[in-house]
This record gives sequence, structure tokens and C-alpha cells, in this order.
Amino acid sequence: MKSHAQSPLADNKTPHFFVEDRAGVIHQLEAVEGWRLMEILRDHGIGMDNTCGGALACAECHIVLSEQSVALIPPPREDELEKLDELPMLYENSRLCCQIIWTDEMSGLQLKIAQET
Ligand code: FES
Repeated sequence: MKSHAQSPLADNKTPHFFVEDRAGVIHQLEAVEGWRLMEILRDHGIGMDNTCGGALACAECHIVLSEQSVALIPPPREDELEKLDELPMLYENSRLCCQIIWTDEMSGLQLKIAQET
């Protein structure tokens, strides 16, 4: 992790996650139970396109989970895997964040926004 754009949350019990943006800056963000990860990122102003609005049509919400974060999230469904397969650049822990619904058990999650291709 390179640098922090925001101070860590004062209360570490608040559900949160860490995201590295495309400039390599790490943000610690508060999460909201039941929201899509894509919506939480957008609400915090972390830039990425998501032109289909979560309809699993654009794959612009591409993120990469850290190795230790994979177990915190349910595995992708077949339709998400098929959309990921269309990307020109795929990583071992690539996911589409519009398909991930936040639960507080995910707190501590680490991910980065995939570079545009
Ligand atoms: S926002 Fe389009 S596939 Fe996720």
C-alpha cells in the first residue's frame, strides 16, 4: 500500500474496507449493509465507469481482490464469470463489484480498481 488519501476511521468497529484507486492511493471507506460494492464506491467518489448501472453488461466495475479477501466474499455466479471472460485483461482475483452485496462480515476487505484497458 502506497499512500492514504483519507485518515483511517476513528472507530475500527465501523464496517469498512480498503480500496486502491487507479492512481495507487489507498482509501479506507465506510460500508453500508445491503448496498452493492459498486454503489458504495460511487457514493465515496471513487472513480470508475459503470455505464450499465449494475446490469452485468459493461464490466467497467472491474476490481481485483487481495488474496486474503477472496474468502470474505461469496464466489462469483456463472453470469459474472462469463462477463469477466470478455475482459482483455483478467487477474486471478478479478470480480465485478456491481455483483457484490456488502455484508458486515466483509469488513477489512482489500481491493483495487482495475486499470482501464
Ligand atoms: S456496472 Fe456494468 S457490469 Fe458492473
